[in-house]
Amino acid sequence: MGRTFFVGGNWKCNGTFDEVKKIVTTLNEAEVPSEDVVEVVVSPPFVFLSVVKSLLRSDFHVAAQNCWVRKGGAFTGEVSAEMLVNLGIPWVILGHSERRLLLNESNEFVGDKVAYALSQGLKVIACVGETLEQRESGSTMAVVAAQTKAIADQVSNWSNVVLAYEPVWAIGTGKVATPAQAQDVHSELRKWLQDNVGAEVAASTRIIYGGSVNGANCKELATKPDVDGFLVGGASLKPEFIDIIKSAT
Ligand code: G3P
Repeated sequence: MGRTFFVGGNWKCNGTFDEVKKIVTTLNEAEVPSEDVVEVVVSPPFVFLSVVKSLLRSDFHVAAQNCWVRKGGAFTGEVSAEMLVNLGIPWVILGHSERRLLLNESNEFVGDKVAYALSQGLKVIACVGETLEQRESGSTMAVVAAQTKAIADQVSNWSNVVLAYEPVWAIGTGKVATPAQAQDVHSELRKWLQDNVGAEVAASTRIIYGGSVNGANCKELATKPDVDGFLVGGASLKPEFIDIIKSAT
């Protein structure tokens, strides 16, 4: 089944108003493959969502980096899924390891968030990934399977879900997973979906890789059959993000 390549740019907690406008200008001027070849979604901090959405080219899309787990209300500091929909923001990143680890977001909490975001009409980039300690102890697949199960337990329609495998030990470290390491986990995740959700979901769900992707290593990673794209951090703030978009096969 043809899965449209997907490249996400997670800007994390970075940028000033002027820097953000400069990044958008670079993106708007880029010559890249059409949307039916590669789907591009950039994710600025909440405070810049509206301005990025207003300035960004129409064939690129915007994601929030999180949203609350239920309908808005007395949850100081949170941003609800309804607010994102109201702003016309179509995507949200959920379960990023930086939130799992720094804010103790459990597998079940992430599953709840994914379910609620989907119920409000958002499309979700759902992140899973193991720590270095978990990899070195041989529990990578047990960890990412448990993270994926907590999502699958609550999701019936996967058509608006992109699964992002982001090994924690590769995030922000420059230690990118080898193409073989990425392919190995991606194929195991696709098998998990096949065995636990169904053949069609396994075949159609994009499984993207994140963790120190850059303009130099993206091409070989993109050749792997179960690598359907990338979720890019640091490099998404730089012009080389365009090279990563062009790595779409
Ligand atoms: O969500 C993507 C991010 O975690 C990867 O970060 O800087 O290693 O590309 P980076």
